[in-house]
Formats: sequence, structure tokens, C-alpha cells
Amino acid sequence: MSEYLKRRKKLISEMPKDSLAIIFGSSTLVRNGDVEFPFRQNSDFLYLTGFEEPNAVAILESNKSGEFTIFCQDKDPSKEQWEGNRMGPENCKKIGAKKGFSIKVFNEEVSKFLINKERIYLPKNSNSIYENMVNENLVALKKTTSRTNHFIPEEIHSIESLLHEKRLIKSETEIEIIKQACKISSAAHIRAMKSVSPKMYEYELEAEYVHEFMKNGARSCAYPSIVGGGKNACVLHYNENKDLLLDGDLVLVDAGCEFKGYASDITRTFPVNGKFSKPQEAIYEIVLEANRECIKTVIKDLTPFDTERKAVEIITQGLIDLNILNGEINELIETKAYQKFYMHKVGHWMGMDVHDVGSYGLNGDWRKYSPGMITTIEPGIYFKEGLKNVPKEFINIGIRIEDDVLVTEKNPEVLTSSVPKNIKDIEKIMES
Ligand code: GLY
Ligand code: MN
Ligand code: MN
Repeated sequence: MSEYLKRRKKLISEMPKDSLAIIFGSSTLVRNGDVEFPFRQNSDFLYLTGFEEPNAVAILESNKSGEFTIFCQDKDPSKEQWEGNRMGPENCKKIGAKKGFSIKVFNEEVSKFLINKERIYLPKNSNSIYENMVNENLVALKKTTSRTNHFIPEEIHSIESLLHEKRLIKSETEIEIIKQACKISSAAHIRAMKSVSPKMYEYELEAEYVHEFMKNGARSCAYPSIVGGGKNACVLHYNENKDLLLDGDLVLVDAGCEFKGYASDITRTFPVNGKFSKPQEAIYEIVLEANRECIKTVIKDLTPFDTERKAVEIITQGLIDLNILNGEINELIETKAYQKFYMHKVGHWMGMDVHDVGSYGLNGDWRKYSPGMITTIEPGIYFKEGLKNVPKEFINIGIRIEDDVLVTEKNPEVLTSSVPKNIKDIEKIMES
């Protein structure tokens, strides 16, 4: 049974009898003039169908096992001359669909699917073009049902809570792909450590990543790469990547490829000239300890809250030791004094989306880690200009260390462990 069929069957098995889920694919987006942004399929749609063409909608019905209908672009030789092959509705069996329709008739046909369903599931904010069509049809049907034997449920359910629970727990196949993505990104970070030098531009270092990703079959980044030298490392999502890298500065690189639809997400911070200075080392060691200790918490029966708490404790203690924070640790944690220097969360789920789907809580409490979940661990400390009580030698240093971690039955498995992260190992690899 194909991975996609398995996923559809699992989803359908949790929908009440006579229910329907409509999943929208993405449409293309104009960049400028006649140029479009590179197309990336909607992750929910891709997860359930594996179908990569734009302008498609899938309808899953719970009353026929694993059955689904696809609306997609028609075959069109003149369009295909410019844009490449299209599957066409008549070939829908190729992707395991029982029925195929032209996307051009979606607006007319969808109402036939909507009537007399126990429950209707829709995604929120995924493709407004087709979402509006469904909503307009529902409104029109509701107006007419009083004079027919048709039934339309009052409430429309969101598909996300059901589907995203599935996406949160990765299958063996998914784990293998994510491992591959992490391997490629790890090689790119090693390549960058070996190639960086003062007077290089940030975008030149970025090019080393892109080269390594592409060369290994990862055709895009999972998110815009962040290559921040010196003070730019203190801007969390800096991605202009346009400045010169300077002797004596650190460079923070947060870069990961997307491979076969799955993300990787790695950050390393290393010295442009190959050698950490004493002040850089002092901060680096705190972030590294937080990274290592937080990874240890990614085990069954603990929760993302335990991981966050660990990061906050280590960073707060580190800032006390550096005399940047003064006071009793629990009080400093309580008042979130650390937030001036560590202002993001320690991790997020990772999968088809870099910030992947899946809730962090269950029934009003934090959820426990379970095997098959993948989270990032990415503590950081940032001393931007203008902060009070921070010694001058620390100003404009920003450090984050990020790994991708798989929850297993036993110990956490770090999927990005081949990229060096302790000071000696980084300096050694940079020498080579
Ligand atoms: N690369 C974005 C993040 O680390 O969350
Ligand atoms: Mn991340
Ligand atoms: Mn990242």
C-alpha cells in the first residue's frame, strides 16, 4: 500500500461515517512581470496525495475506503509546451484517485459532494480561491435545503486538528527522508566552516550552502537562509545577507535544505577568522550547555515545557555568572529577566514545514514527547547594541546553536550531530 493511501485511510478512519474532507493544493503566485515564484505544494495536500501540480483540490470521502477525487488542471499541449507535463484528470489513477475532474468545473461540481454529509472538514486559509468557492456553495445550498430533502450540517469542522496530529508523528519513511535532509544540511555547514574567511560577503557564504544543497539533490532551502556576521546575528530572522564578514566577528548561520518535501533546520555560530575570542567563548559555552541539556529532555514522558524550562534555567544562570543579571535565579526566571537576551522559544516541531504542524498542548496541558516526533533545539543569546548592564566586549555578539532531534523509545536521536558544535571541534575543522 502506498504511503499516501495509508495516510488517507488513517485520516478517514477517524472521520465519522458519511463525512467529507476537502483539501486544497496551492496555486502559483506571480513574482513580477511574467515570472512566478517557484511553486511549492501545500504540505497537507502533498501529505495526502503526493501530487505536485498547482491548482488542484482533493476530496476525501469517509464512506468509501481510501477513495478520493481529484480536481486538477486539464492536459493542454500549448500550456505544456511552456510549463511542462500535466497529469490531466483522465490519468487520476496514477496518484490513486478514483475519479478525476477538471479544476475548471470545481465550482459547479463541489456542491454535489457537500450535500447530505454528516460532517464536512475544511482547512483554514490554505487557498482562498477554492475555499471561497466551497463557502459560497455552502451558503447557496443552505438557502435551498429547506425546500429539498438535502441536508447541510450547521457547523463546518476544521481538518487541521485531525490531520496535523498525524503529521506530527513521522513514519519510518518520513524519518528516513528527514535524516537525508539533515545529512545534506550538515555537510553544507561543514563546507561553510571550511570556506569562510574575513572579507567574504555574507551572500558568498550563503552560496556555499546553496551549492551543497543543490549538488545533493535538495533543490531548495526549507526557509530563507540567515547568514549574519557580527551585529547582524542579533537580528533573529536577518536574511539580507549583504554585509562583509569581518575578522574577529562571529557569523551565525541558520540554514537548512528542503529534501523531497521535508525540512531540516540547523544553526551554527562560528568565528570568521577561525578562532573564538575569550568573550565569544564565554557566551558560546552557555548556549552550548543549554543546547546539550535541552536535548537530553527530548524523551518520552517529558514535554516541550520541560525543555523550555531547562533552556531558561541555564541561560539565566549563565547571565548571572557573567554579572549581567543580578538576583535570585527563580525570581529572575519568574520575571522573565532573561528575555532581553533570549527572546524566542527553544524549539518547534519540524517536518514538511520547518515550523511544523501539531499542537504543543493537549487538554489544557503540555503534551508529552512521543516516538516519531521531531523537534528543533535552538537556544540562543543575543547582546544587541544599547542593552544596559552588558559589558562592552559582549555587545553585538549573537549566538544560537540549533539541532534537529528525533524522539525515540529511548534516548533522543540528534539528526544533525555530524556538524561540530564544541569550540575545539569547530576550530579544528576551520583549520583544515
Ligand atoms: N530557521 C527558523 C527557525 O530556526 O525557527
Ligand atoms: Mn528552528
Ligand atoms: Mn533555524
